[in-house]
Amino acid sequence: MRKILIDNILQSIRSGLVVLDYHGIIVYATSPAMKILGYEEEQFIGKSWGELFLHTENNSELNQIIIDVIGEEKLNLHREVSYFSPARQHYQLSVTTSYLRETKTISGIIVQLDDITELSELRQREKLMIEERQRFSLEMLESMKKISLSVAHVILNPVASIGGFVRLMMKRIDEDNPLRQYLEPIGECTGRLEGIVKSFKEYTDIKTVHYETIHLITLVEGVRPKIESIANKLEKEIRYRIDVEDNVTAYIDPVLFMMALDEILINSIESIEDGPGEIDIIVYKAACGIIVEIKDTGSGIDNKHIPYAFDPFFTTKTSNNGMGLFKVRKIITEHLGTITIERRELLGTKVIIHLPADDLPANNLMIQ
Ligand SMILES: Nc1ncnc2c1ncn2[C@@H]1O[C@H](COP(=O)(O)OP(=O)(O)OP(=O)(O)O)[C@@H](O)[C@H]1O
Ligand SMILES: [Mg+2]
Repeated sequence: MRKILIDNILQSIRSGLVVLDYHGIIVYATSPAMKILGYEEEQFIGKSWGELFLHTENNSELNQIIIDVIGEEKLNLHREVSYFSPARQHYQLSVTTSYLRETKTISGIIVQLDDITELSELRQREKLMIEERQRFSLEMLESMKKISLSVAHVILNPVASIGGFVRLMMKRIDEDNPLRQYLEPIGECTGRLEGIVKSFKEYTDIKTVHYETIHLITLVEGVRPKIESIANKLEKEIRYRIDVEDNVTAYIDPVLFMMALDEILINSIESIEDGPGEIDIIVYKAACGIIVEIKDTGSGIDNKHIPYAFDPFFTTKTSNNGMGLFKVRKIITEHLGTITIERRELLGTKVIIHLPADDLPANNLMIQ
């Protein structure tokens, strides 16, 4: 009675079950198992595994599981394998093995089989679709880049000539000539256009070429002369503090990373309006990697501008192009890092860069 009950339960499971004794003889199999493997009961029960399967090379993956279980006594092996039925039909099977135990001794092997052919075809199709989509977006990006570069190139030449001629005409006409009122705005606009196209070209020219392990103290110290010269140029009085935790290293492209720091510091210096301003550059190691914070006591970024701050050509300044933070974000993402900007509670703005720890190198990356 108990045996019939167990048999009924086993036969009603959708997965197929095959039991082999320790000599590899098939002593029990459920109907789903025989259906999946393509055998009738009389061709299957009592036969040895080797007799049925070992001679078929196509089923080496399935055979290997049994060999590993018997030979290497590997427990609970689970693999997805290809299987060719006696009718040469191809299936994809999910196979799990375990031991049949009687008290403490192992008396056989239980093989659980699931036909995952449809699922695996679906997965394969999905994978192909994702690959196709990725290829398509890469091609799109590549052609967008080519188009933008050509447009930039084509615009730059005529704009530069218009600008050049306007400047020449301005030099040749008298200070009080009424034509000046028309020429001056043309000069300003062409200058602006030239600036936009140039900074766009700079953006597309950004290339990570040389990654190395850098002591951040050495790199960050390099900003001192820059802060001083920009502050002088913009006639701002700046006090700054550099605080880099000892021995923090990062795997970065130092030239590019410096370019990003420069852009952030220029913004900080530009944001300082009246009187002396302060800039703090703080670098430390955290559980999630390396943190670089740049804090200023400037006018502070407007909360409603934060979502757009990293967009190309977004600026709140009258004579800037709004490309600085766009370039910075590209550099940081290429280092597998992230960057955020926030308004400080009392005064000024804070930019936070997260970089991966130096044991997670952002190696071999090329900016597209
Ligand atoms: N430290 C800061 N303090 C206040 N506002 C800031 C700061 N940094 C960025 N912003 C805001 O974010 C905008 C975008 O910055 P971004 O550097 O991209 O452009 P920009 O400085 O205006 O122009 P560009 O960098 O091309 O000269 C700025 O116009 C400004 O409104
Ligand atoms: Mg800027």
